[in-house]
Amino acid sequence: MIQTDILIIGSGIGGLTTAIKIAEARPDLKVTVLTKTIEGESNTRYAQGGVAAVWDANVDSFAKHKEDTLDAGDDLCDEKIVDIVVQEGPDRVREIIEWGARFDKKKNDSNYDLGREGGHSENRILHYKDLTGWEMQRALSSKADQLPNIIIHEHYFAIDLITQHHLGYAVTRMMRDVECYGAYALNKQTHEIETFLARSTVVATGGVGQVYRATTNPVIATGDGIAMAYRAKAWTENMEFVQFHPTALYNPGGDNPVFLVSEAVRGFGAILKSREGEEFMEKYDPRKSLAPRDIVARAIDNEMKIRGEECMFLDCRHLEEEAFIGHFPTIYEKCKSIGIDPMKDLIPVTPACHYMCGGIKTDAEGRTSINRMYAVGECSSTGLHGANRLASNSLLEAMVFAQRIAGDVLQKVDQWQIQTGIPNWNASGTTDPKEMVLITQSIKELKETMSSYVGIVRSNVRLKRALDRLELLFHETEDLYNTTTLSPQLCELRNLITIAYLITRSANMRKESRGLHYTTDYADKLPFVHSIVL
Ligand code: FAD
Ligand code: SIN
Repeated sequence: MIQTDILIIGSGIGGLTTAIKIAEARPDLKVTVLTKTIEGESNTRYAQGGVAAVWDANVDSFAKHKEDTLDAGDDLCDEKIVDIVVQEGPDRVREIIEWGARFDKKKNDSNYDLGREGGHSENRILHYKDLTGWEMQRALSSKADQLPNIIIHEHYFAIDLITQHHLGYAVTRMMRDVECYGAYALNKQTHEIETFLARSTVVATGGVGQVYRATTNPVIATGDGIAMAYRAKAWTENMEFVQFHPTALYNPGGDNPVFLVSEAVRGFGAILKSREGEEFMEKYDPRKSLAPRDIVARAIDNEMKIRGEECMFLDCRHLEEEAFIGHFPTIYEKCKSIGIDPMKDLIPVTPACHYMCGGIKTDAEGRTSINRMYAVGECSSTGLHGANRLASNSLLEAMVFAQRIAGDVLQKVDQWQIQTGIPNWNASGTTDPKEMVLITQSIKELKETMSSYVGIVRSNVRLKRALDRLELLFHETEDLYNTTTLSPQLCELRNLITIAYLITRSANMRKESRGLHYTTDYADKLPFVHSIVL
C-alpha cells in the first residue's frame, strides 16, 4: 500500500496545475500523480486554438466574455461559475506565463496576438502557433519537475476509487457521507494492482472522445474518471452534451484520433464551403462560419446529408500564405502530408467528437458529491459550459478550478487522516484473457452504436436502439470482468460502456433540443431549464 497526502489521477492541465498549487503552498505534503501512459500524453497536449481570457481591457470586458459563454451554453450555464472563471481566468493565464508558458506576440510589438474563435465577440484567444496545448503541457511538466514533493507515477492505470464500500458498507448515490480514501491502480509494468491511500483525491482524467468512432481526442480519453466516480456513487450531470467539433480533417481510413483543423483557422478568415465552392452558413446563423460550435457542426452535418457528401470544405485560399503558415504550421504540414495544399485546395472537413461538457458534478470549489474527492478539468461539470462549451474556455476552466481546489484542500487537509483497514485488491477466481478479440470487437461495436444512434442528431427510436445494444454489451463485459485478470483494455471497455450509458440515458431523459443535444422528436426548447443528474 502506498500512502500519500494528496492523490491526483491525471497529468493534464487540470491534474498538474492542482498538484503544483498544493505542492508549492505546502512543501511538507506529498502529492502523488498517477497517469496512465506518459506524463505528457493528454487532451491538453493536443489543444490548438488557445486559451480564452479577457486581456485587453480597452476593447474587451468580463461582461462580454460572460455574455458569449452564456450564449453558447444555451441558458444552462451557472452564471455564478461563469463570473468566477471569466474574472479569475486572466490571473491564471498570467501565472502559467510566469511558469514558463509562451504565447505568440504580435509582430514588432510586445502585445499578445489575440485570436478569435466561434461564438466570441472579441479577439481574446492567447495561443502558441497551433500548438498551444503542447506548450502549456510542457510548461506545467517542467514546473512540476522543480517541486520535489510531487511524485509522478507514469503507466499507472487507476481502476476504482476507494470508499466505505471497500470496508464492507453499503454505499448509495443518495448518501451524503460517502468518503473517498484513494484509489486502486494497475501498475502496467508489473501487472500488479496497487492500493494508493490518500487524505484527499482529485480526479483529473480528462475526456471521453474514444466512445465515438471519429474523435479528436487521443486514445487515453476513455472517460475513466467519470466512470470510476459514477461507480463510487458520485453524481454526474449534463452527460448528454457531447461537443462535436465541426472541422476535423476528413481523411478516410486515416487516423485515430482524427486531426483537428482548429476553429482559429476560421477565426483567421477561412470560410466553410461546399465541394462546388458555395458558402452555406448564412442559412443557419448570421455569424456564418464563426457561429458557436453546436450550430456549425449541425449545419455541416445537415449539408452533408442533403448533398450526399462525406465532408464539407474549408476555403483558406484567399489567406496570406506566409501569415497562414506562421500561425498554423502543424495544420499546414498535416494537410500537405495527405496531398492537400491549403493555399491551393479546399480542405475537406467533417465533424468529430471533441469535448464532454458534462461530467462529475462539482461545486464552486471543485468538490464532488463524495467527501474528500474533487474533480477538475474535462471530467468535471462545474456549470461553466451549460449545454455547449464556448471555444477555448476549457483550458481556462481547468486552471481556475485547480486554484480553487488547491485552496479548499489546503484549508482542510490537516483534519483528514489516511483511512486504515482498506483491503488489497482481490483478484481471486480470475484468469488471463483467452481472446483479446472479445474486448476489441466490443469496443468497435460500442463506437458504432454511439456514432450511429447518439451523434449530432438524435431521436427517441435511435436512443432506444442504443440503450438496448448497450445493455447487451454491458452484461457481456461484466461477465468478462468477473472472470478475467484485469487489463487496461478491459477497464477501458468497461468505462466506455458506462460513459455511453450515461450519455444515452441523459439524452433520453432530455425531452427538448438544447445546445448540443438535438433530437428530431422535440425540436424546441422547454420553457424551463434543468440539468439531468445521474
Ligand atoms: P487531459 O489533458 O486529457 O488529461 C487527462 C489525464 O488523465 C492524462 O494524463 C491521462 O493519462 C490521465 N488519465 C486518464 N484516465 C486515467 C486512469 N484511468 N488512470 C490514470 N490516469 C488517467 N480546449 C481549449 O480550451 N482550447 C483549445 O484550443 C482546445 N483545443 C483542443 C484540441 C484538441 C485536439 C482536443 C482533443 C481538445 C482541445 N481542447 C481545447 C480541450 C482541452 O484540451 C481539454 O478539455 C483539456 O486539455 C482537458 O484537460 P484535463 O486536464 O481535464 O484532461
Ligand atoms: C480549436 O482549436 O478549434 C479547439 C478549441 C477548443 O476546443 O476550445
